Amino acid sequence: MITAPGRRIPDTGLRRGKPRLAIGLLALAAVLAARPAAPAAPVATAAEAAPVATAAEAAPARPIPPERLRSGLDFAAPGIRALQADDFANPGMLWVERGERLWGESAGAAAVSCASCHGKAADAMKGVAARYPRIDPESGALRDLPAQINACRVRRQQAPAWAAETEPLLAMTVYVATQSRGMPLSVSIDGPARPHFEAGRAIYERRMGQMNLACLNCHGERWGGRLLAETISQGHGTAYPIYRLDWQTVGSLERRFRSCLSGIRAEMWPYGSSEVIDLELYLAWRAQGLPIETPGVRK
Ligand code: HEC
Ligand code: HEC
Repeated sequence: MITAPGRRIPDTGLRRGKPRLAIGLLALAAVLAARPAAPAAPVATAAEAAPVATAAEAAPARPIPPERLRSGLDFAAPGIRALQADDFANPGMLWVERGERLWGESAGAAAVSCASCHGKAADAMKGVAARYPRIDPESGALRDLPAQINACRVRRQQAPAWAAETEPLLAMTVYVATQSRGMPLSVSIDGPARPHFEAGRAIYERRMGQMNLACLNCHGERWGGRLLAETISQGHGTAYPIYRLDWQTVGSLERRFRSCLSGIRAEMWPYGSSEVIDLELYLAWRAQGLPIETPGVRK
């Protein structure tokens, strides 16, 4: 996030959002908020405001037509793109290695590893991340990937759940998601997932925080535009968990939400709350078709 010089406060996201020194952003976002009808930046049309019709009758119209979908990487500086593209330089690859190690380690009262049940991750986990968040058929609950991993920890390994945003959970999430690299996102929003999708969409479009801005105002209506030092992307979660230079570590999609929420001075939802997972489902559907890039690298 943007802070005044010398006052760089690490955005751990684990504390409740304390007001930050981001006067420049405050002023800029206030300007954005004050001109809701202002013309969008050159590359962005009002795609989300005027969605095109889709083939399926019951399916909601795509906010960004598939041919205009663009990864966040396209908006990143060349140095960042080079880092992500090179597995030897990409710092996120360290988390892949850590996850691989954990995959084979026995844990919990059951004294079994992920591998004991699932075998090779390259086979068992291929394509899995592309379907998440997903309704768990047994409990009926919507789970994102970290929640599913923890469900296996608790129920199958009889081990304590890994806390949100901790190294083992991030490493395992990165490791599992990496098995789907290059595969297009394709979540289901049918049946029991539908109310979650609708709830996620409502959150996405709701103005929030002291700046009274919605996710939609930036990532739907102004992508391609500049916000201080940053270029606003379409706001997809396809590269997550990412290595973010600003964090100096890997962080989850939820932590990225927290950066955005703190930027607009909005309350944060507790980690793993239903609002977050509903929003993740909406985001994944909105990005439907874009390939998974985990582990991504961002500024
Ligand atoms: C004031 C404008 C603004 C608002 C409002 C905002 N964001 Fe962001 N968001 C940004 C900026 C700037 C970035 C960093 C550059 C980028 O990747 O777009 C970002 C990054 C992201 C990313 C990471 C994209 C990537 O490829 O790494 C996601 C996902 C995201 N935002 C989702 C959201 C969600 C969900 C909301 C609503 C809860 C939201 N944002 C609200 C400005 C905003
Ligand atoms: C005792 C056996 C067992 C262990 C140990 C276990 N799992 Fe599972 N896991 C299952 C079963 C059963 C399912 C549900 C059936 C399915 O979807 O494959 C499942 C489902 C999953 C899924 C969802 C797959 C999908 O297609 O949606 C993921 C991801 C997963 N496990 C990850 C892990 C990870 C990571 C570990 C180690 C931390 C682990 N599991 C440990 C048995 C196990």
